Amino acid sequence: MTTVDQNAVLFERAQKTIPGGVNSPVRAFRQVGGVPRFVSKAKGPYFWDANNKRYIDLIMSWGPMIVGHANPEVVEAVQKAAETSFSYGAPTAGEIELAERICALMPSVEQVRMVSSGTEATMSALRLARGYTNRDLIIKFEGCYHGHADSLLVKAGSGLLTFADSTQNAPSSGGVPQDLVKHTLVLPYNDVAAIEEVFQKQGDQIAAVIIEPIAGNMNLIQPSKEFLSTIRSLTQKHGSVLIYDEVMTGFRVALGGAQSLQGVIPDLTCLGKVMGGGMPIAAFGGKKEIMSKLAPLGNVYQAGTLSGNPVAVAAGLKTLEIISREGFYECLGGQTQKLMTGLKQAADKSKIPFAVDNVGGMFGFYFTDQVPTSYEAVTKSNIEAFKKFFHLMLDEGVYLAPSAYEAGFTSIAHDDAVLAAIVAAAEKSFPKL
Ligand SMILES: Cc1ncc(COP(=O)(O)O)c(C=O)c1O
Repeated sequence: MTTVDQNAVLFERAQKTIPGGVNSPVRAFRQVGGVPRFVSKAKGPYFWDANNKRYIDLIMSWGPMIVGHANPEVVEAVQKAAETSFSYGAPTAGEIELAERICALMPSVEQVRMVSSGTEATMSALRLARGYTNRDLIIKFEGCYHGHADSLLVKAGSGLLTFADSTQNAPSSGGVPQDLVKHTLVLPYNDVAAIEEVFQKQGDQIAAVIIEPIAGNMNLIQPSKEFLSTIRSLTQKHGSVLIYDEVMTGFRVALGGAQSLQGVIPDLTCLGKVMGGGMPIAAFGGKKEIMSKLAPLGNVYQAGTLSGNPVAVAAGLKTLEIISREGFYECLGGQTQKLMTGLKQAADKSKIPFAVDNVGGMFGFYFTDQVPTSYEAVTKSNIEAFKKFFHLMLDEGVYLAPSAYEAGFTSIAHDDAVLAAIVAAAEKSFPKL
């Protein structure tokens, strides 16, 4: 008896009313090919597709689900909040509690403004930096993705790295005027000399440097200490705002984000993903002196009908409570490290060139001999091998990010039995490459 693939049925139907059948491009499986899996439900480290096939989830909604899918404590908090309406458009005590919690956890954040997505957080932080400095130029780094605001779609990572044909300083997307991206300077990640040169020439015109302090949108790439300290000292010297985009790394690589691991104090920090535990909420915050330029205090306008949404705040507060418990990050980081060691050993057995890296609950694996340190290096890894591996693992019930240019994510629900199942799947898959 042949069974109908319900994912294919849904994909065909979706494409009639949703462009490409998806509401965010990487979900479409364009790099790896094949039919996207349509999720029907999820629990802990697993989700089920439209055929009721179970997968071990290694993207966890691209980061947010750090306490596992449908965590009972978070579900209860959300249900309780929902009973008193979903939105008011007026302030609540919960927002203050969330702001206080974020300020206590993030070393550099004195004040915080809540928004509904990471894109809004970075877009607003940039506007604020420009308003604060009265300058236009911004610096971003190749392969870093900061959401889809116009001026940030230049040599951007994530879906854009997967799809776009980026040429130097051309927009990575249609619909972005050249006039807008001319204010965006793009430099290679981890290139100390390049940033020194730009600041020497144009330091007094640079409003902000925005960076993923551990890059996760060109696979996982870590910065060198020298790179970070050079950026911090040059921005300080020239009066530019240093924006840490911790939408991905915040509460994911450590309780205090990448900045707590690196000992760098940025001027502004963008947050999202984990801070809402899977609900649409994000934030940007930092020095009071800069944040006070925001409306209604200052002249930099920023607003949102659903900002600080009470149901999302409830999910965020409970998630932050759970991840603040003793031993959470030791466990999460330990499990992720164990997973990477297992994958590497499996690849070695089959003599496949393969490298791994992880920080906290975020990981990268690369079909190449060495862990890459730049966008250019990542694009030279064996993408064909990745694509094959992706599908072999999918057949074995392990859902990896459907692109070689994305980091992976674990959760506290990825216990030893789950890790063993992933490694067993890899041991079957590598010899078939
Ligand atoms: C580092 C970083 N910044 C910003 C964003 C944009 O966030 P959102 O997709 O919530 O708009 C992302 C999304 O993946 C991200 O990884």
